[in-house]
Amino acid sequence: MGKRSARETFVPFVAVAADARPLYRQIYDGYRVAILEGRLRAGQRIPSTRALALELGISRLPVLTAFEQLLHEGYLEGRSGSGTFVASSIHELPATAASAAGAAHRRDSRDRAIATSSASSKPPQARERKAEFGAFRVSLPALDQFPNRLWARLVTRHARAMSAESMAYGDPAGYLPLRHAVADYLRTARAVACDASQVLIVSGSQMALHLCARVLLKPGDTLYFEDPGYPGARTALAATGATVRPVPVDAEGLAVRAMRPAKGGASAIYVTPSHQYPLGVSMNVARRLALLEWARRQRAWIVEDDYDSDYRYSSRPLGALQGMNGADRVIYTGTFSKVLFPALRIGYLVAPPSLVGAFLAQRLALDLFPQTLDQLVLTDFLCEGHFARHVRRMRAIYQGRRDALVAEIERRLGGLLSIVNADAGMHLTARLPAGFDDAEVVRLARARGISAIALSSCYVANTRDPGLVLGFGGVPEADLVRGVQALSQVLAEVGRR
Ligand SMILES: Cc1ncc(COP(=O)(O)O)c(C=O)c1O
Repeated sequence: MGKRSARETFVPFVAVAADARPLYRQIYDGYRVAILEGRLRAGQRIPSTRALALELGISRLPVLTAFEQLLHEGYLEGRSGSGTFVASSIHELPATAASAAGAAHRRDSRDRAIATSSASSKPPQARERKAEFGAFRVSLPALDQFPNRLWARLVTRHARAMSAESMAYGDPAGYLPLRHAVADYLRTARAVACDASQVLIVSGSQMALHLCARVLLKPGDTLYFEDPGYPGARTALAATGATVRPVPVDAEGLAVRAMRPAKGGASAIYVTPSHQYPLGVSMNVARRLALLEWARRQRAWIVEDDYDSDYRYSSRPLGALQGMNGADRVIYTGTFSKVLFPALRIGYLVAPPSLVGAFLAQRLALDLFPQTLDQLVLTDFLCEGHFARHVRRMRAIYQGRRDALVAEIERRLGGLLSIVNADAGMHLTARLPAGFDDAEVVRLARARGISAIALSSCYVANTRDPGLVLGFGGVPEADLVRGVQALSQVLAEVGRR
């Protein structure tokens, strides 16, 4: 995103108080420290003296005096006709000198807290960025294939015609036509038994999982969790203090028979039955029935995370657990992050009718309602058929990418990596021989611009099988091939140790 220099700018935090120093000195000190500590960066526009005086509720004179001094000492520079800026030479100051000089002026611990958070000039994500887009970034769809122009047209359509209604507070459950469209899609494509009254639009399935924790679990309750499983879900679901009990996963999905009843208190179980994360297996029918029966007997809730089931290559997508007979204890969650793009931050939750009120109450407590403009755009995208077309198109692309990755792994790494299941989704997991340090593989791969997840990092229990979770959806075929090549070098290096 290009950085624009706005004519109107924020007034930086400069406190003026009734203290012994004259006002102009307080303003001068405030700006000087902010510049030295890097809170105000070289080239950044400074508000006009009039705007600052207004904001601080003081006369303009002390502001003028302070700015004159700052200009004179070279902290600020004027550019004729366009305003006053932090001097562009400021960035030449060595970071340590700048922060040491700034430190001398820090007056209280509050200033110190601001200083430490802003002193390290590079935000952490700037350093991680390179690897994030490399092969085999997990969870990233093929963003280069997204119909940007079409999406932009829909955004413009709604942005141009924003009504007062769409600018006001919205429905906490989400925009009703979108809930209808999501319910239609889920009934049709995923065999979910629902209508719009059970659908809540949320900010990604992460929020849905967090809401599940708030509605279903309190401190000391038991959360049964797939092992290995999706760490993000574990964090969200355990947020209200539930105790996590890992349940093993084998080739047929969650090992329901391994689950011991919880002692007292409520309990919930998190599952990804259609496409287990990370192993990629799907839960067979016998296991599904056993799980539903187990939940009925234990009066436990089942949280079904159906995050990427639109993409299945060798057979038809499996229906959702939620749509089976006797599934009235299932809370179903899903997301548009994988089928569209993650920055959209739109997901959904389908609650059993008896829990809709409780979910709405928690939703309201957390965040009043979902952002309206994106919901309007997404509703059109779904209702005008673009969504179905997009999913169909992407399925073919992902299948090509999946085939390329599988072939290359078999060709180069067949003796070392054994793929668990690659029938669906946008990633696959491959096991490494026992004793292999998968975390070290990931670390070294990262240094070569390759991103992968260590299978061992997805476990809660002590037995942690080594392996690699490799995303292919967001990676062009040529990069997958190059990625496997680089990976084979890393594996050879780690294997020799
Ligand atoms: C299994 C699983 N569930 C949920 C999510 C979260 O998705 P969202 O972006 O909708 O929060 C992810 C994201 O990678 C995931 O892999």
